[in-house]
Amino acid sequence: MNRDNNSIEPPLMPYLNEKFGHYCPNMCIYVGPSPIIVVTCPKVIEAMYTTHNKSFDKHDLVKLLTMELTGRSILFAESNPEWRARRKALSPAFYKGKLIKMIEIAKGSVQTSLKRLQGMTESGVKTKIDLIGEMSRMNIRIILERALGIDITEDMLPYWENGKLVQRDVPYVLRTCFQIMINRMFTCHVIMFPWLADKYITPAERDLLANSRTLRAKFQKVVNDRRQEMKEGRRLDEGDFLSILLSDELFKEDNEMIVDEILTFFFAGSQTSSVVTQNLLMHLMKESPIHKKKILDELEQVVIQPHLAKLVEDGKLKVGETVTNIRPLDVIDYEDFTEMSYYGLCVNEALRIQPPVSQSSTVCMMKDVDCGGLVLKKGDAISISMEHFGRNPAEWQEPKKFIPERFDS
Ligand code: HEM
Repeated sequence: MNRDNNSIEPPLMPYLNEKFGHYCPNMCIYVGPSPIIVVTCPKVIEAMYTTHNKSFDKHDLVKLLTMELTGRSILFAESNPEWRARRKALSPAFYKGKLIKMIEIAKGSVQTSLKRLQGMTESGVKTKIDLIGEMSRMNIRIILERALGIDITEDMLPYWENGKLVQRDVPYVLRTCFQIMINRMFTCHVIMFPWLADKYITPAERDLLANSRTLRAKFQKVVNDRRQEMKEGRRLDEGDFLSILLSDELFKEDNEMIVDEILTFFFAGSQTSSVVTQNLLMHLMKESPIHKKKILDELEQVVIQPHLAKLVEDGKLKVGETVTNIRPLDVIDYEDFTEMSYYGLCVNEALRIQPPVSQSSTVCMMKDVDCGGLVLKKGDAISISMEHFGRNPAEWQEPKKFIPERFDS
């Protein structure tokens, strides 16, 4: 197998892609003591999430792998009463009012990035702009601010890299710790000996362990500072994720539990939305400009024209007067996104063609079940491959092409 030495991609996916191309069948990989079943067939996935929804749960492996970073967070823990109680307490963070607030934070973050980029171009000094890095930073800032109510993206942390202690900013440490931690699932020694999942043996694993502990300590401090502020009657009702947890009976006195969920909120929300935004941008730049033009036309129709009409209605603008200084960023709101249907199709297509989470964390069945013709045995590790599922030529016409209209039905 051809493999780029600098790749951080786990070896399993390049192997499957090289062997089967973008359509790989359901398969059982038996490398270590127990099998990993890679599921790609829509019928099987549908049966798992509908008929057999109650019989499937998280597999222990992923909980062990992530314990040092996200503890017993809802993302990887098994669905017991504790999990249900935690999940219920977290749901207010996703109510519509909170999402509206998130749009405002996002707008602020885009402004900060724009200013940064303008500063770079206006300085006159020729600089290479790392667009992917900038977008990643922008998304991390949004999620961190939504999670903590403050922007800690510029804070520096001690970070172990190849056995040396260096300084790295919070977004870097968060991104790399999560990437390395998840990729351990596909390393040979963990596949061969799953009980090594929570043992940190190699020098790189020891670096990871130290960095994870630094991260948790940093977040503990943010939690303690905020608790103190709230005790003093300050910053009580800002609606961020941390203030929701600090006001909840189950969470409020338990720092470990709060840090588990805040790190998960960051992990689940930042890289996913960052990758889909980057992929969409790349497709709009690479493919025919028609998709880009359609989005810009929609923006004009849904955001700019109604705004101008409102200015005329309020007597702030005369009919026929030329306006040059309206930026969509200043006037767009949550409701506009629900009306921008073509933009929605483009996001769906970007998610299909290059899913930010290419493979689910490992799950397992609690009893033997027949899912859409595939017999899944109790306890076997199962992973759903979104990457192969989204490119199956039996399901999608011209699966390699970026065609947003395919979702318009
Ligand atoms: C395009 C963006 C996103 C994608 C593609 C995505 C994808 C996923 C996937 C595949 C899972 C299941 C993971 C597994 O166990 O295998 C998941 C779970 C989760 N995601 Fe997202 N996600 C996105 C955005 C977000 C955002 C913005 C947030 C929060 C701000 C978020 C919060 C969560 C949480 C809390 C869970 C765990 C849910 C549970 O187990 O009950 N996600 N996401």
